[in-house]
Amino acid sequence: MKLLSPVKLGPLELKNRMAMSALTRCRAIAGNVPNPLAITYYSQRATAGLIITEATQVTPMGQGYPNTPGIYSDEQVQGWRKVTDAVHQAGGKIVLQLWHVGRVSLPEYHNGQLPVAPSALPMQGQLHTPQFVKKDIPTPRALETAEIAEVVSQFKKGAENAKAAGFDGVEIHGANGYLLEQFTKSGDNHRADTYGGTLENRLRFPLEVVDAVISVWGADRVGYRISPHFEGYASSDANPVETYTRLVEELDKRKIGYLCVKEGANEPKTPDQALTSRLRKVFHQTYMVNQGYNAQTGEAILENGGADIVCYGTLFLANPDLPQRFEKNAPLNAPDPSTFYGGNEKGYTDYPTLS
Ligand SMILES: Cc1cc2nc3c(=O)[nH]c(=O)nc-3n(C[C@H](O)[C@H](O)[C@H](O)COP(=O)(O)O)c2cc1C
Repeated sequence: MKLLSPVKLGPLELKNRMAMSALTRCRAIAGNVPNPLAITYYSQRATAGLIITEATQVTPMGQGYPNTPGIYSDEQVQGWRKVTDAVHQAGGKIVLQLWHVGRVSLPEYHNGQLPVAPSALPMQGQLHTPQFVKKDIPTPRALETAEIAEVVSQFKKGAENAKAAGFDGVEIHGANGYLLEQFTKSGDNHRADTYGGTLENRLRFPLEVVDAVISVWGADRVGYRISPHFEGYASSDANPVETYTRLVEELDKRKIGYLCVKEGANEPKTPDQALTSRLRKVFHQTYMVNQGYNAQTGEAILENGGADIVCYGTLFLANPDLPQRFEKNAPLNAPDPSTFYGGNEKGYTDYPTLS
């Protein structure tokens, strides 16, 4: 199977072409430090060619869900160090997903202050407070122009901390309606300064983040995730083909290690492979695709040259030994959505392996 064949990702030698997609699990403990169970959870999945961690906020303002881990304090770095050591010991490779939720948050996470965004646009929807109570998302506060450099430096600090924590690289979370995507998409960014208006201006902040992270890691250990068709959290763009072709051209110029394209809208899982194959031609480093793939469809897209690596989310969540199961054509455990977010080892470290 091509899925099980080795591949190079920048300087990293991956043992197969199956990546574990970023999966938020809301189990970090006090101080947003990774749960000690995360050591077991991630090392159980070390047969993935690459593990991409759950989204990890670079600053407290970047949080919008209960108990998500951070990468801004020494305790968090020490917590992640235990995870990377265990994954490496088990023969795996692991990168950290760097995150800022922007407007997808509640004042309850910020001592009563409003969440921040490119523009103060009202949006509908609810989120859980730190106590898992549902609340309406408020209209956020628009970042002042002078504040943007500060957010860029928070991403840079997160990248430095990820290095100190022993990761093999980082993935910048530019998808799923969060801060970088809010700046990128025309429907979410109505700014009148140099960070909004034209497409070039909308891409300025995400690309400043990319350049800052490259300055820490070197381009070939930096990945970037996009979701051109994501429609959650009021996310919208008038011309995703134009927006994302331009963004990906810029990422390609910088020769970042990989691009991960989450292809579909939120639900149903309908990949837009027309845009995927267009972007594939624009980006010349390692190309990953995600959303709704199984063994057959993953193998097919590799075989026809549409991608170099396939990212599996929910299948890796429920099947720690997913590559082995694909190899043996073995049955798969079904993911249990009731234990996706929050809780303990149930639905986290207790999915059975074949052996
Ligand atoms: C429980 C859960 C948590 C997720 N957390 C993240 C995340 O932290 N970062 C991210 O980029 N995507 C996140 N996603 C999206 C997944 O990475 C992936 O794109 C999605 O599950 C579709 O892939 P799949 O069909 O293989 O499951 C999450 C999805 C689920 C189900």
